[in-house]
Amino acid sequence: LFSLLAVMMVFLSGCGEDYLSTLKPSGEVGKQQLNLLLMTTIIMTIVVVVVSVIYLLAFVKYRRSKVGENVIPKQVEGSHTLEVIWTVIPIILLLIISVPVVITTYKFADVAAMDEVDAEGNKTALTVNVTAKLYWWEFEYPNQGIITAQELVVPTGEKVYFNLKAADVKHSFWIPAVGGKMDTNVENLNKFYLEFDKESKDLKDGVFYGKCAELCGPSHALMDFKVKALSPEAFDAWVASMKATEGQVADKNAVDLGEKTFANNCLSCHAVSGVGGPGVGPNLTAFGDRNRVAGFLEHNEENLKAWIKNPAEFKPGNLMMKQDGSEPIYGQLTDEEIDALATYIMSLSVEK
Ligand code: CUA
Repeated sequence: LFSLLAVMMVFLSGCGEDYLSTLKPSGEVGKQQLNLLLMTTIIMTIVVVVVSVIYLLAFVKYRRSKVGENVIPKQVEGSHTLEVIWTVIPIILLLIISVPVVITTYKFADVAAMDEVDAEGNKTALTVNVTAKLYWWEFEYPNQGIITAQELVVPTGEKVYFNLKAADVKHSFWIPAVGGKMDTNVENLNKFYLEFDKESKDLKDGVFYGKCAELCGPSHALMDFKVKALSPEAFDAWVASMKATEGQVADKNAVDLGEKTFANNCLSCHAVSGVGGPGVGPNLTAFGDRNRVAGFLEHNEENLKAWIKNPAEFKPGNLMMKQDGSEPIYGQLTDEEIDALATYIMSLSVEK
C-alpha cells in the first residue's frame, strides 16, 4: 500500500507546472475554487480518518481474545443517542461544504456586467463567445468585432466573460490553472467569467493550457487550446492589429504558390482575416503567432506539412478528412504545393 502511495505521489508531482496546475491558480476564480477543493478534501479526510480509527478500535477491542472461547459479547439493538449523533454530524458537515460551494457557484455565474454599456451605448465588459467544435475552439469577441481560433487572447486584471456553446456535440471548457470548467452545449448558452492575474509570457511555452473536459469523440484528448494572457496595453494592441486584417484574403491569382494554393484549397473553410463571422474551419489569421499546430503539435513547418498531408493521422475523426478517410477534403496536393502552403500559413501573423 505504501509503495503504491509513493508512486501516486510521484505522479502528483507532475501536476506542479504553473501553466496547467489547478493547485497553483493564476486568478481569483481559480483561487476560490482551490479553496473549496482544499476545504472539502480536508473535511473528507477527517471523516475517513475518524471512521477508520473507530473501526479499528472496535476491531481490536471486540476480537475473539482466547482460542476456543465462544462468548458472544452483549448485543445492542437500536440506540437513539448513536443514531442522533451519526445523523446530525453528517448534516453539519454537508452544510459546511455546501453553503460556500453554492454561494461561490452563483457568484461565478453572475454575468450581469456583460450587459453594462458606457455613455455611447457600447458594452464595456470584455466578452468572448466560445464555440467548441470537433476538435477545435473558436473565440469571437463581439464587442471588438474580431474572431480567432485555438488561441484565446485575454488581458490581465479584469473579468473576462464567456458565452459558451458547442456546434456539434457536448464539450467542456476548462483552463485548469485559471478556472472552470463549464460545459459547452448545443442547445443552451452557459455563461461565466474568469480572471487572469498573471501574464502568460513567463510560463512554459508562454501560454496557459486549455482543455476539452468532456469526452466528445476519438480526438477528445487532443482538443486543446492555448491561452495568452497579455497586459491590458498589449491586449489592446493585439485587438488593433487583428482589426487591421479586415478584408484580408488570399488571392487565387497570386504569384506566390502558397497563397494561390491556399486560395484554391483552404479559403472556403479557413478565413485569413480576423474581422468577420464564424468559419467552417479555424480562423487562421494569426496562425504564425500561435503556439501549436492543430492545437497540440509543436509549432513548426514540418509538423504543419505533415498535418496538411494527412490530418487524420494526428487527429482521428477531424473534419479535414473525407468521410471515408481516403484523403483530405481538398484532395492530395503536390509536395511543392504543400511546402509553399506551409510557408504561407506560417507567415500569417499580426504580431510582426
Ligand atoms: Cu471536445 Cu472532448
